[in-house]
Amino acid sequence: MKKLALGVLEQIKNYTDPSLSYRAQCRASICGTCGVKVNGKPVLACKTKVLDLAQNNQVVIEPLDNMPVIKDLVVDQDEYLNKLKKAKTWFEPKEYLDKVYPEELSNFEKETDCILCGICYSVCPAFQNDKNFGGPINFVKIFRFWKDKNDALGDLRIEIAKDNNITSCIHCKYCTFFCPKEIPVEADILQIEFFGKQKGIIQSQDNFGFGFDFGF
Ligand code: FES
Repeated sequence: MKKLALGVLEQIKNYTDPSLSYRAQCRASICGTCGVKVNGKPVLACKTKVLDLAQNNQVVIEPLDNMPVIKDLVVDQDEYLNKLKKAKTWFEPKEYLDKVYPEELSNFEKETDCILCGICYSVCPAFQNDKNFGGPINFVKIFRFWKDKNDALGDLRIEIAKDNNITSCIHCKYCTFFCPKEIPVEADILQIEFFGKQKGIIQSQDNFGFGFDFGF
C-alpha cells in the first residue's frame, strides 16, 4: 500500500490516538505546514509515500530539527518567521511597474515556488556557529525580490542579506538537497554573496564557519 505520510498521521489520529498533534492544511504541497522527518529525511507529509522511505518495513515520523517542539510533530516556527520579518521578505513595489518578460521571470521563477515550509531551515547546520544567521529560507526570499525589476529595494536587498549574516552560510547544500520545491537555495546564496562582494557591500573577511573562502 502506497500511503502518504499525512494519510498515516490521519489514520493514527482518527483510529488510534486522537491526541496526536501535527500541522497540515492544503494536502497539495502548497501551504507548507506539514513538514516532518520520515525515517530521518525532512519532507512534506502530504507529498511523501511512507514506504518509499521505510527501513525494514518500519517508518518513524518525527518533528523537524532546529525548532523547539511544541507537541508531537508541531514545532515552534516563531524564530524563522521573525527572521523573515526582519529581512523584509515581501515585495516592495516601485511606483510604476514594468512588464516582466518570460526571460526575466526565469531569473527568479523557481524561487517564487517557495512555500515557507521551513525544511531548509531545519537542516541548516550554520546555526551551530551563528544563532543570528538568517537561514536559507530568508535568502531565497531576498534573492527572489532582488531579481525582480519591479521591486523598489534593489541592491538594498544585498545589504539586508549582509545584516542577516549571509556569510555565515557554510555551503553544505543541505538546503538545496532537501527543498521539496527543488529550489537551488545554496546557489542563490552564493550569487547574493558574489554580487555583494563585487559591489563592496559584503567583505570577504565576513566569511567564517569552516573557513570557506570564495577568493573574490
Ligand atoms: S498540507 Fe499543505 S504542504 Fe502539505
